[in-house]
This record gives sequence, structure tokens and C-alpha cells, in this order.
Amino acid sequence: MSILALKAIEHAYLGRSVLSGIDLRIDAGEIVALVGPSGCGKSTLAHVAAGLIAPKSGRLSRGYERHAMIFQDPSLMPWATASQNIALGLRLARVPRTMRGARVAEAAAQAELQPGDLDKYPVELSGGMRQRVAIARALAVQPDFIFFDEPFTALDVALRRRMQDLVIGTCSEAGLAGLFITHDLHEAARVAHRVAVLDTYGRGILGSRALPGAPAERSDSAVQDWVRAALAGDPLFRHIHDVDERRIA
Ligand SMILES: Nc1ncnc2c1ncn2[C@@H]1O[C@H](COP(=O)(O)OP(=O)(O)O)[C@@H](O)[C@H]1O
Ligand SMILES: [Mg+2]
Repeated sequence: MSILALKAIEHAYLGRSVLSGIDLRIDAGEIVALVGPSGCGKSTLAHVAAGLIAPKSGRLSRGYERHAMIFQDPSLMPWATASQNIALGLRLARVPRTMRGARVAEAAAQAELQPGDLDKYPVELSGGMRQRVAIARALAVQPDFIFFDEPFTALDVALRRRMQDLVIGTCSEAGLAGLFITHDLHEAARVAHRVAVLDTYGRGILGSRALPGAPAERSDSAVQDWVRAALAGDPLFRHIHDVDERRIA
């Protein structure tokens, strides 16, 4: 019962192939982390999957009703308050005006924003608070699928952990499915049900590994043990920490 399926997806920018032979299926309620070195095509894959760019070839099927996206850059409107930013997606989703206030309040509470933060402008908020606003904006449309594209990479370690907990909690409570892109295997092992690895040159998903138990119930030591074993003994993860941008083929 896939909620998202990519079959033989191929994509090229200006004639240069960046993705080929991409097969990936995500089940309802499943969070799949996608890892791979920088430049291997993770963001492109997410954009294709979300329908933001049309693939050169391949088949795409989506079983969800509404998706939301959360990026590394919270991309808030600087002239709008936090609550107006959260409401923006609702306007675009044509949610009636009378329902918007309640939806904003509910999403802000889910993202653990304080009522006092809602009247502030992005410039008055810390980086973590801005990212919470971006999360609330995503949740407000009541998505049944969320694309995360390295959302917490710019945050410090302690804050990143709290944001991961927020994602784990909200997704498990609402049974949301999602694609969580990260180049941090530890983050992948915390938030996901399964980790998929994209080839360094975008030539297919090399494989995927299920993580033990559900993200919300997984202990820190289980996460650490899994990461240690994956990096030490699983050839699937051999290249994920390559830092070089891929060479132009
Ligand atoms: N809009 C674009 N036009 C041309 N090339 C692009 C564009 N976006 C990304 N690329 C190239 O496509 C490849 C994959 O990029 P991207 O999907 O951003 O990788 P990742 O998210 O894994 O770092 C890279 O070589 C990148 O330079
Ligand atoms: Mg990227």
C-alpha cells in the first residue's frame, strides 16, 4: 500500500543526467530517510516526487491527498508575523478565512510555539523559532505526507535534537508518512522507519535498511548501536560521508 511510488525515474538538467533508474516506494505511515553524499541528487529527487519539476521519464504515483515541504531555509515572508506566515499556506490551500485562526493556533501549538511568538516578525525570532514557524506552516495545511529537505542542518546539535523529537512526535501521533532527506546518518536513524541510500551519481537507490522499532519508541542507545554497525559493517553506507560534490560526468 504505497503512498508514494517512483518507478524508473530519470532526470537531467541542461542535458546532464542527475537521476536515473530511481525506484522508491513509501508506505502509508512510513517515514523514509534518504541519505547520500552532497550533490548526488537528493533535492532533485524530492522536487520530482513532490511534482515541482517534471521528470524526463519514469512513473510517479501519489496516494496522498496533501503534502507539505520543510527546507533547510525556513523561507518566511519577512514582512509578515509568525502567525501570518503560518496562515499563508492556508490561503494557498483555499482554507476558508473563518477556519484559519483555529488551524494556525493548533499548528503553532504542535510546533511548540508560544502565543507570544506569534505576533513577532521573522527578524525578531531565533533560528530555531523560525524553523518552528516553518514546521507550523507545514502542519497547518494538515498534510498526510511531508517532504523534509535537510531541515535541521543549519541548527546546533541540541536544537537539532529537539526539532527531531518534534518531527518524531507529530508524525507518529498523526500517522504521517514522509521523505526525510539528510546527510546525517544519526538523524536518519532517529527519525525514520527505514533509511534509503541514493547512489553518489544519482544512478538509482542502492538499497534501504529498516530500523528497529518505531522512531517514537527507539532508544538513544538503539540509534547509536545501529549507526555504529551500519558505518562499520554495512557496505551500503560506505560512501555516504563522501564530501566532494560529484564530478561532472
Ligand atoms: N536547477 C539546477 N540546474 C542545473 N543543475 C542543477 C540544478 N539543481 C541541481 N543541479 C545539479 O544537480 C546535481 C544534484 O543536485 P541536488 O539534487 O541539489 O543534490 P543534493 O540535494 O543531493 O545535494 C548537482 O550536480 C547539482 O549541481
Ligand atoms: Mg540538497
